[in-house]
Amino acid sequence: MTDEPVADRGAERLILLLVGAVGAGKGTQATILSRELGLVHLASGNLFRAALAAGTELGEAARGYMEAGELVPDELTIAMFMEELARPAADAGAILDGFPRTVGQARALDDTLAAAGERIRRVLYIEVPTDILVRRVAGRWICPQCGTPYHEDTDPPREAGRCDRDGTPLRQRDDDRPEVVRARLDKQVPPMLAVVEHYERAGIVDRLDGTQPIERVTDAILSSIGSRSGH
Ligand code: AP5
Ligand code: MG
Repeated sequence: MTDEPVADRGAERLILLLVGAVGAGKGTQATILSRELGLVHLASGNLFRAALAAGTELGEAARGYMEAGELVPDELTIAMFMEELARPAADAGAILDGFPRTVGQARALDDTLAAAGERIRRVLYIEVPTDILVRRVAGRWICPQCGTPYHEDTDPPREAGRCDRDGTPLRQRDDDRPEVVRARLDKQVPPMLAVVEHYERAGIVDRLDGTQPIERVTDAILSSIGSRSGH
């Protein structure tokens, strides 16, 4: 964290949490919202993939878990994520994508925020039935440079195979193979539901129909946080 008095920094930050299973649209919505609201997009999966690509110790430690569709242990994940949340890039606030994903992570986050006089403003739970999720992930292409997700049918790039934002050739993710997707759903949905329950007790969860077109989901998120900026 910084040396500033904690109360100063906490007062203004808008912290939103996107929750949803594999392929629910967290990354898609976080990319759009981060532009609309001027908030940094912090995605634990993207951070792990960047660490893997850079060959860091953290990346190597995460590799086996990610390849097996399992959650990376809390002690590695919490430390990595808190460091990102404390950076100046998050001074205006942040859209959290994929963290917290266990109740242990949620408690660690709540405690860190509370110590700075902060809290999560809203939790947006994007609900999508499993059969749709599997199809979505099968058609997904990602920009390895900036992390923007595309879909070959529902959200194709303007130029086939290249990112709209930086022109980088798109790739499919190693953990999007069908057997890993099944493992991700089996192992990661139960702890995710426990996180939703944790925040439901605080009365800050909005459940959104994630089967709607991308723009409709964005509109639903913006109306649940009471913001219409850019719309
Ligand atoms: P992570 O990268 O977070 O993967 P995930 O949670 O499985 O989620 P995805 O990124 O697959 O889906 P998404 O919801 O972002 O969907 P997207 O917007 O791309 O995590 C990867 C791994 O890292 C984990 O398995 C774990 O090992 C580890 N990890 C990460 N965080 C961790 C944590 N906190 N603790 C422990 N381990 C952790 O959309 C999917 C597709 O659908 C795209 O093609 C998109 O174009 C399309 N689409 C999106 N919205 C719509 C729509 N409304 N209609 C039609 N198509 C749509
Ligand atoms: Mg994602």
